[in-house]
Amino acid sequence: MRNLYAPLLLLLPFLHSGFGQILFQGFNWESWKQGGGWYNLLKTQVADIAAIGATHVWLPPASHSVSEQGYLPGRLYDLNVSKYGNQADLKSLIQVFHNHGIRSIADIVINHRTAEKQDSRGIYCIFEGGTPDARLDWGPHMICSDDTAYSDGTGNPDTGAGYPPAPDIDHLNTDVQQGLSDWMNWLKTDIGFDGWRLDFAKGYSAATGKIYLERTAPSFAVAEIWSGLAYDGDGKLSYNQNGNRQELVNWVEGVGGKAMAFDFTTKGILQAAVEGELWRMIDGDGKAPGLIGWLPGNAVTFVDNHDTGSTQKLWPFPSDKVMQGYAYIVTHPGVPCIFYDHIFLWGLKDEISKLVAIRTRNGINPSSKLRIIAHDSDLYMAAIDEKIIAKIGTRLDVGNLLPPDFKLATSGNNYAVWEKM
Ligand SMILES: *[C@@H]1O[C@H](CO)[C@@H](O)[C@H](O)[C@H]1NC(C)=O
Repeated sequence: MRNLYAPLLLLLPFLHSGFGQILFQGFNWESWKQGGGWYNLLKTQVADIAAIGATHVWLPPASHSVSEQGYLPGRLYDLNVSKYGNQADLKSLIQVFHNHGIRSIADIVINHRTAEKQDSRGIYCIFEGGTPDARLDWGPHMICSDDTAYSDGTGNPDTGAGYPPAPDIDHLNTDVQQGLSDWMNWLKTDIGFDGWRLDFAKGYSAATGKIYLERTAPSFAVAEIWSGLAYDGDGKLSYNQNGNRQELVNWVEGVGGKAMAFDFTTKGILQAAVEGELWRMIDGDGKAPGLIGWLPGNAVTFVDNHDTGSTQKLWPFPSDKVMQGYAYIVTHPGVPCIFYDHIFLWGLKDEISKLVAIRTRNGINPSSKLRIIAHDSDLYMAAIDEKIIAKIGTRLDVGNLLPPDFKLATSGNNYAVWEKM
C-alpha cells in the first residue's frame, strides 16, 4: 500500500513550493480608463500573456468602489459597476484565461470598506452588500472601535495598521469573518477566481488573515505587506535589512505558511544595488538579502507594480535598469511577478519571455538552491541549482568566474544568463 502513495508524496513538496509558477500583474493604475473596458482589452492579450509563460494572472479589485481603481470597495457582491467592466465581462475573461491554462487571482480588499449611507448621527456606517438577500448588509458595530472617524465604539480594536480613507473592518467579529469568507468563496464558485492577492494585509493581523485562508482554501495566495527599508544615520540605505524581511517572515508564519508575501525587501535592495552597489546582493550569511534568502518558497518577487511604478511611481525601479531587475528575479528563487507595463507598454516582452523560458526549461522553482559567485559594486553573479548562471552589472568581462561548461542563453543591457551544457 505504501508504495502506491510514494509518487504522490514526492510531488507534494513541489506543489507546496509553487513549482513552475509565474505570476502576471494584469493591470496598472490607469487601466480603469480603458475605452470599451479593461476586461475586454485584456481578453485580446491572453494569448500573449500565456506565451510569456505566465501561470497566474492578478486582476484588479472587481467590486463596486468609491475610487475608480477599486481600492475603496463598498458593495462587495456588486461586480457590475466596476470601471474595468461588468460581471459578465469578468467571468468571460477568467474563462479565456482558464482555456489558456492560466489561473486568476482576485485582488481582495477587506481591510476597509466604504459605507453606503449615514446613520442618525450623520456618520457613514450603513453598509450594503449588493445582494437582494442582505448578504454583507452591515451596521456600525462591524467597524473597529479605534477607527475614530467612523466608530460607534462597539467593534473590537483594530488588529493591524489603521487606514484613514475608509472605515476599518473589525475582523475579530465572527459575522464579519463568515460574511467575507462566504463572499470570497462566491468569487471562486460563481465568478471563477482561483486565489487571492490580499491588499493592505498590514491592516489586519496574520491570525485573522489565516481564518480567511483556511475557510477559502485558495490554490495561490499572496499578501501585500509593504515593509519599508532601514536607513543609516547619514540617510543612506542600510546594508542590513533583516528587520524588514523579518516582518514578512512573521506574517507568513502567522498564517501558518498558507500564503506567500510580496518580497518588498528584495525589490528595495535590488533597485538600490543596480546603481553600482551590487555588493548589497548578499547578506552576512552568504544568502540573498531579501525574503528569498530566508523563505524563498513563500516569496513573490517583483520589479514594480501599480503603486511603486505605473503613473503613481511611489517607489519606482530605475527605469533604465528594469531588465537587470528581471534578470535577477526570473532566474532566482521565489515566484517572479511580471508587471503588465513592462510587457505591453515598455516593449520588453521578448527579453522577459526568454528569461522565463530559461527558468522553465531548467526547472528553476521557488526553493531552488542559490550560490552567489560574485558581489562587487559592478558585478553580481550567481548559480541557481548549478544549472544556470545569471549576471547583472556593468562589468562585461566576468573572466574565469564562468565555468567552461556553461554557454550563453540570453543577454541584454548589463545582464547575461548562461546554461550548463
Ligand atoms: C450583475 O449582472 C449579472 C448579469 O450579468 C446579474 O446576474 C447579477 O445579479 C448582477 N449583480 C448585481 C449586484 O446587480
